Amino acid sequence: MGNKFSKIGFILAAAGSAVGLGNIWKFPYIVGEYGGGAFVLLYLAAILFIGLSAFIAESFLGKISESNAVTAFEKMTSTRFKESTLGTIEEKSSTASPLWKYAGFMVLSGLVILSFYSVVLGWIINYIFISFSSLSTDVKVAEETFSSLISEDIFKQIFFHTLVALTVVWIVLKGIKDGIEKANLVLMPLLGVILLGLFVYAISLDSFSEAVKFMFVPDWSKIDEHALLAALGQAFFTLSVGVGTILTYSAALPKEANVVKSSILVTIIDTGIAIIAGLTIFAFLFEAGAESSGGPGLVFISLPLIFAKWGIIGQIISISFFVALAFAGITSAVSMIEPILLYFIERLDYSRKKAVLVCGSIFYVGGLIALLSMSKDYGEYLTFFGKNAFDWMDFVTSSITLPLGGILICLFLGFVVDKELIKSHFLKSSTERIFNIWYATIRYVVPTAVSILMLNKLGLF
Ligand code: TRP
Repeated sequence: MGNKFSKIGFILAAAGSAVGLGNIWKFPYIVGEYGGGAFVLLYLAAILFIGLSAFIAESFLGKISESNAVTAFEKMTSTRFKESTLGTIEEKSSTASPLWKYAGFMVLSGLVILSFYSVVLGWIINYIFISFSSLSTDVKVAEETFSSLISEDIFKQIFFHTLVALTVVWIVLKGIKDGIEKANLVLMPLLGVILLGLFVYAISLDSFSEAVKFMFVPDWSKIDEHALLAALGQAFFTLSVGVGTILTYSAALPKEANVVKSSILVTIIDTGIAIIAGLTIFAFLFEAGAESSGGPGLVFISLPLIFAKWGIIGQIISISFFVALAFAGITSAVSMIEPILLYFIERLDYSRKKAVLVCGSIFYVGGLIALLSMSKDYGEYLTFFGKNAFDWMDFVTSSITLPLGGILICLFLGFVVDKELIKSHFLKSSTERIFNIWYATIRYVVPTAVSILMLNKLGLF
């Protein structure tokens, strides 16, 4: 039927989802903002103690229910499954609140993230073209190039956003096996090769040791509660937890797949790529004597500036870098829309074509609103309570719906789904001791840590 992954296909697709703009664009600039090594340590701790457990939880929810996100919550609420030793499923009536079934609507946030993610991907495609023709060595010009793209070049942005949207739509039209798995099978190794090439080049630079020092020797002076929360938020976003993406992909896992092992593998790939991207970018920046604290403009302003100074080699590096970024972003973009597509297809009986048309149109229009909201001419009409639509989409998803999705999944598995059922699945891939640690983590540690994160981001304390 073409709706199940192969084992390697799943790893690549889950890693493809996790590795995205979050790793190559966002991670280096927040590490820069928080002064390097100490933040990296916090981030690694957040991944290990919180992100990974939430990832495993979402993966199990998909694997056990074998359904789309909305059905998964409903199914596991209306009946409590118990798998006997013979493998038959015994259904028990449940005392769980029927409200749980609404948790599945976390899939909606995929469309919101995709709206602005597609716009940023459009900028990246634009920078691939800029790299071919006109990289500037002048700081003023580099800044001007970026800011005029965002505030004035509406048509250019619409053009590239359209290109990205069509690519995403074209891939998901073909479904999981023929679309998503195939795209990842091609794009992920290419991304790996390009990143590795850039990394090897970075190692050959004198500044590489400086980059290693910056990333791994902790300087605790810039660490405060904001850094802690930023590390936690980044751990969630980078692992793609909280939308139902991992759940959806895991429901398409082959029967014999090992959930714990594949989750660990995906987490290692995702973290490894963030670290490699960070080392590479900082080596480039330090080589040119630039600052590490360039903020969100780091890869759009500071990096091209440095590449421009390296002549033709710089141009080749620049093209490779933005192509890698585009590949990483496309495989993530595809993963944001699939959960909601499955809702339309399986629950509302849409054909895949019609579902893609509806969801594609929604995020396409969302992207138009996001990009217009940053423009000089239309910005004021699309700014609400001092934040433009683009920032609102980012804020609502990364500060509210994603963490909320993560908490709900952990609480659902920790307190609603039958413990023995989860345990029997868990023990197929791991030991009892690890199960106990993980179970306590999803019941108490993740919900506590993430609630603190959310309340703080919402300015409630
Ligand atoms: N993990 C991706 C990144 O780092 C972003 C992403 C993709 C995502 N799919 C997601 C985030 C689903 C949350 C939910 O760029």
